[in-house]
Amino acid sequence: MKIFETRADLQHVLSESRQSGQTIGLVPTMGNLHEGHLTLVDAARGQCDFVLATIFVNPLQFGPAEDLDKYPKTLEADCKALESRHCDGVFVPSISEMYPNGLQDQTLIIVPGISEGHCGSSRPGHFSGVCTVVSKLFNLTQPDKAFFGEKDYQQLQVIRKMTSDLCFPLDIIGVPTVRLPDGLALSSRNSYLNEEQKGIAVSLQQSLQATKEKLLQGASSMQTLEREAKDFLSDCGLKVDYFNISHAHSLKPAKTSDTDLVILAAAWVGPTRLIDNIRVQL
Ligand code: PAF
Repeated sequence: MKIFETRADLQHVLSESRQSGQTIGLVPTMGNLHEGHLTLVDAARGQCDFVLATIFVNPLQFGPAEDLDKYPKTLEADCKALESRHCDGVFVPSISEMYPNGLQDQTLIIVPGISEGHCGSSRPGHFSGVCTVVSKLFNLTQPDKAFFGEKDYQQLQVIRKMTSDLCFPLDIIGVPTVRLPDGLALSSRNSYLNEEQKGIAVSLQQSLQATKEKLLQGASSMQTLEREAKDFLSDCGLKVDYFNISHAHSLKPAKTSDTDLVILAAAWVGPTRLIDNIRVQL
């Protein structure tokens, strides 16, 4: 597996691959790779000739009080894991390689509407930071397909809209969330949790599953369902950020007539903020 630190090296190899007729699959990550990321690599491996992962902890998508400084960095282990899944290359740029003119002057991408509620409300500027770095990665690598996890459901929808609105010529592929046997969604931030907190964190998925079942059984007051789930989560020891039953595509609050839903949730377990979601087809 090739490791690229500069855009020039990366683009040289990618243009050779493209010229020899290979398709390129991009797997953007912030590192500290777990099975969820590696499943994205597997999906890319199954659909593309040249699989490129990127590892870049993007400062632009972290708020001033967020965990940028303590975000886990495990480059050696990440490279071994990528290699074991037959990834062809990994791009590990420095901040100055990605933002040569600095962060302050960086042109930003804003995706209106869909990026505004949920995590967009709790983390102002987050999706603009995500879209800016992802669009730069799209331009630098010109992939045929890019792979993102469904765990970050709102991020996936925001990136889909950006890709369509800005006419990026590639397919966005969503890959199902990987979970521990107890239901906890894999996340790099799980590494912040101690054993007791891991036990508490499972309630997030349980609350989503329970709400889904109530909807399938005919419950129709979204507000009541959201309140019950929030009460359950508080009783389990989580601090709820949001628990929203939404339309699966617009991410607007679900109406009783909607049939394609997603329940999006974010909650704090101690100092760690976790997100999860579940789809519901009525
Ligand atoms: O989902 C992530 O890990 C990040 O938001 C992404 C897409 C790699 C952009 O930095």
